[in-house]
Amino acid sequence: MKILAIETSCDETAVALIEATGDLNYPKFKVLNKVVHSQIEEHKEFGGVYPSLAKREHARNIVPVLSQCLKLKEGKNVLYKENEIKEILKREPDLFEATKKFLENNSKPEIDLIAVTSGPGLEPALWVGINFAKALSLEWQIPLIPVNHMEGHMSSVLLNTNQKIQFPALSLLISGGHTELVEIKKWNEYKILGKTRDDAVGESYDKVARILGFPYPGGPKISDLAQKFRKKEQKSIGIKFPRPMINSKDLDFSFSGLKTAVLYKTQELKKINDFKEEIAYEFEEAIVDVLLNKINKALKENDFKTLIVAGGVTANKHIKERILKISENKDLEILFPEKEDSTDNAQMIAVAGYLKSLIFEPKINPEIKAEGGLTY
Ligand code: KG4
Ligand code: ZN
Repeated sequence: MKILAIETSCDETAVALIEATGDLNYPKFKVLNKVVHSQIEEHKEFGGVYPSLAKREHARNIVPVLSQCLKLKEGKNVLYKENEIKEILKREPDLFEATKKFLENNSKPEIDLIAVTSGPGLEPALWVGINFAKALSLEWQIPLIPVNHMEGHMSSVLLNTNQKIQFPALSLLISGGHTELVEIKKWNEYKILGKTRDDAVGESYDKVARILGFPYPGGPKISDLAQKFRKKEQKSIGIKFPRPMINSKDLDFSFSGLKTAVLYKTQELKKINDFKEEIAYEFEEAIVDVLLNKINKALKENDFKTLIVAGGVTANKHIKERILKISENKDLEILFPEKEDSTDNAQMIAVAGYLKSLIFEPKINPEIKAEGGLTY
């Protein structure tokens, strides 16, 4: 079946079209097209994602992104459901006009299902994607399924594996908004084993980057600096940061104290230019030590067959290399998404939507509520 997916939970407006076959044991996917419009430049001056700006940018870009992804034949159509669509998009009059024009000038695509992110994420941003997807579902009479963003990240590994996933699986989700350890009993049956009590891993990378004077999102910059320090084997001045909650009895995390330790160290050193690489290195080592410790603890507590690591922070090579080593003397399959599927995207939402559609019957224009909160 062909699935169109829409993702607007944070600062990426993403649309993808994929072909999905197979059952829950052995699903297969082929990405037919994918388009992402990033808002990073717009948010840079705020040092993070600014919700009302994100909403406005999604509303402005979603139609061009969809149109580029679908490349539909031009046609002249009369809108069947103009009044209902106007009602659905009543808070976004410009988006209504753009949607109307798009639907009038393009023929209906051959798609079997639409999937849209319903949360967690920024609520105003989520509503743009949800309402837009509802309008398409209604006009084209194509069923629509809401998808959890974190389920999307977990399922992103299915885009690049041909093997059957062995359950139960453990998933470590590390992104700008989340740090969670989740037990996957089977697709669509999850239990959160632990999560961050304050900052997410990506968020702490971004905050440390800001302390060191780099723009949002600073994760890649910090990992570059850390790598430079690692490679050069240059003299260390012995910077040490704490590994928060590394020995706690639970599987929760806390990273805000680590960021504060970085801040204090920069204040103590005053001239930090010569030490940025070592600070980044020691910060990254602290993060990985904590992540590895918690993964190992979870693996000891349960007989997991697979470890799925997903979310934007998996773009970090060092974190990936160290996590992959866990399986050296264990019978454990470790899966990561490709780099292009690791940060926010719509192909992962299509994958999760397909899995969900094999369990729940999707409906045309269903009731969907944006779930802004951080859990699911
Ligand atoms: O999953 P994602 O695209 O968005 C959320 O759902 O949050 O993750 C974005 C996060 C940002 O905090 C970014 O700094 C971080 O992932 N990130 C990295 C790297 N590349 C992206 N963090 C550390 N090292 C990287 N190489
Ligand atoms: Zn994400």
